[in-house]
Amino acid sequence: MLFSRYVLPAAVLSIGVNAFYPYIRPSTAVPSLTSRLVERFYPFHLRGSSSSGDDATHDELLTLPLKKRSTVNKRENKYTIVHGNPATGPNSATVNEDGNDFSYFFEMDFGSNNQSMWILFDTGGTNSWVFGTNCTVPACEMHNTFGQNDSTTLQTSGNTFSVGYGSGTVSGLLSSDTVKLANFSFQLTFGLVNNASKDFVDYPMDGILGLGRSKSSTTGTSTAMEAIDNAKLLPSNIVGISLQRNEDGAKDGEVTFGGVDASKFEGDITYTSVISTTDRWEIPLGDAVVAGTRLNVTGKSAIIDTGTSYIFLPPADASALHALIPGSALSGQEYTFPCSTNTTVQFTFSGVTYSVSPKDYIGSTTENGGTTCFSNIIAVQTFGPDDWLLGDVFMKNVYSVFDFDQNRIGFAARNGTAATISTASPVSAAASSGNAGTTTSPANTTTQTASATHTGAYTGAAASFSLPSLVKLTTSVIFLGLYFLSNL
Ligand SMILES: *[C@@H]1O[C@H](CO)[C@@H](O)[C@H](O)[C@H]1NC(C)=O
Ligand SMILES: *[C@@H]1O[C@H](CO)[C@@H](O)[C@H](O)[C@H]1NC(C)=O
Ligand SMILES: *[C@@H]1O[C@H](CO)[C@@H](O)[C@H](O)[C@H]1NC(C)=O
Ligand SMILES: *[C@@H]1O[C@H](CO)[C@@H](O)[C@H](O)[C@H]1NC(C)=O
Ligand SMILES: *[C@@H]1O[C@H](CO)[C@@H](O)[C@H](O)[C@H]1NC(C)=O
Ligand SMILES: *[C@@H]1O[C@H](CO)[C@@H](O)[C@H](O)[C@H]1NC(C)=O
Ligand SMILES: *[C@@H]1O[C@H](CO)[C@@H](O)[C@H](O)[C@H]1NC(C)=O
Ligand SMILES: *[C@@H]1O[C@H](CO)[C@@H](O)[C@H](O)[C@H]1NC(C)=O
Ligand SMILES: *[C@@H]1O[C@H](CO)[C@@H](O)[C@H](O)[C@H]1NC(C)=O
Repeated sequence: MLFSRYVLPAAVLSIGVNAFYPYIRPSTAVPSLTSRLVERFYPFHLRGSSSSGDDATHDELLTLPLKKRSTVNKRENKYTIVHGNPATGPNSATVNEDGNDFSYFFEMDFGSNNQSMWILFDTGGTNSWVFGTNCTVPACEMHNTFGQNDSTTLQTSGNTFSVGYGSGTVSGLLSSDTVKLANFSFQLTFGLVNNASKDFVDYPMDGILGLGRSKSSTTGTSTAMEAIDNAKLLPSNIVGISLQRNEDGAKDGEVTFGGVDASKFEGDITYTSVISTTDRWEIPLGDAVVAGTRLNVTGKSAIIDTGTSYIFLPPADASALHALIPGSALSGQEYTFPCSTNTTVQFTFSGVTYSVSPKDYIGSTTENGGTTCFSNIIAVQTFGPDDWLLGDVFMKNVYSVFDFDQNRIGFAARNGTAATISTASPVSAAASSGNAGTTTSPANTTTQTASATHTGAYTGAAASFSLPSLVKLTTSVIFLGLYFLSNL
């Protein structure tokens, strides 16, 4: 294998933003750094019974059901994970999440002993890595790890890698082993991390699977999709993704490889070809429509990224969008508006308009018990001035198809989702179609939450529902566009 100096396209293109970017939302409810750090690890509490009626659901918070570790000095993932229902489609993986819709991950088994790991699937990056057993820094200590004792088939290359992000790096040795995912297995080259900065303490995932679009010829190592393709296991190189909205109690998230799961969407999938000038999953944006008024933007494109929690727009575009939401005000990079906002917010691709539910674009309250909320559409230019970054806040509203063979992204209306495809869609605050789970109280000493949860209350036109009444403190949000810096 050739591991000479290389830089992935994501790095080249991520001007001003170093890949993994833990977005820390400013909050007036945080008086000091000390309290923020404490509260960061505040156990996620069950959302109380909603007073809004029969539609109330409970989050199902369970401890991690990973397989018993074979050696005494192994770590365990100490985070609260909200488990999805078993996947129904062929070659499909259940999507789990952190309870806040901030990060979505599936289970992968690494090596000959099938070491289970929570792996964030990242359409915004091409690189894959897991925390290694040799790693003793805090972020590793809190996660499941993988190493030589878990596998007789693990090969480490001796070549180091480094993944840059925000204020630090994850680094280790490039390695290769058999991995199992969604009922199939293949040989994957990934980074085995032996050092990680503290930022990763905030996230439940034990590693990342890069499902970015770029090819190995620019990276020196096969991407996950190329490895899957090489194994000739699937009829096509297509990934269908459905993300659940935890607030609805939904647990039907699923990632399907090699096709789409028709039970997860309604109507047709409309495809848009990716723009030819980047290696990202980036498609031309038709327009954005707010309260029925088109923004009339031209020349914009949207990166569709499972590894990003929110929506990031260049400041001028964020300004134009929020100008049409009554009561909006800018505070730093954040817009605020009344928590009762019900304005329709829509994005158009290839002539089809997709609504983003207020449930998704209304963020936490700006202060404890307040009635002003942050917008989850944030004024940050992540790439160029015409690049919009649509993360999970958008993706929860659609069924997404990433077609590696034809270089296109498809969207369809998610089956059962509140927001629907339309050109004049009314806001619907319809209750969840998900199953109401049983409630299990997490042990406070062993449960960590990825970040604080939403708070406040929103009353929609069609129905009302309550958001949890937890104090919103710090919101670390994932923005992933990982890249291997170099062969250090
Ligand atoms: C998983 O693989 C097993 C054995 O190959 C097969 O019997 C089963 O139907 C598969 N399940 C799914 C959901 O594809
Ligand atoms: C790992 O999983 C495979 C099938 O998926 C099974 O054949 C094998 O016995 C498992 N190994 C261990 C150590 O559990
Ligand atoms: C882990 O540590 C052991 C003992 O120091 C060493 O032999 C092994 O090569 C290390 N593995 C990795 C993947 O760094
Ligand atoms: C691997 O297993 C050996 C023998 O049981 C043990 O001495 C060593 O500490 C283990 N290494 C790790 C990194 O768990
Ligand atoms: C581990 O990474 C941190 C930055 O995240 C760095 O300061 C430290 O020097 C690294 N440690 C080693 C042993 O490389
Ligand atoms: C949507 O889901 C419902 C129940 O979950 C199912 O009955 C229906 O067939 C699904 N729609 C499609 C288009 O598959
Ligand atoms: C976009 O153009 C339409 C029709 O030309 C106009 O009605 C609308 O106000 C414009 N939008 C904005 C934000 O100016
Ligand atoms: C955590 O649980 C222990 C007992 O299990 C209890 O004494 C303690 O007060 C709890 N702490 C919090 C912050 O709930
Ligand atoms: C939003 O709320 C206002 C006031 O409650 C109501 O008049 C309006 O019809 C609602 N708009 C939508 C799109 O539901």
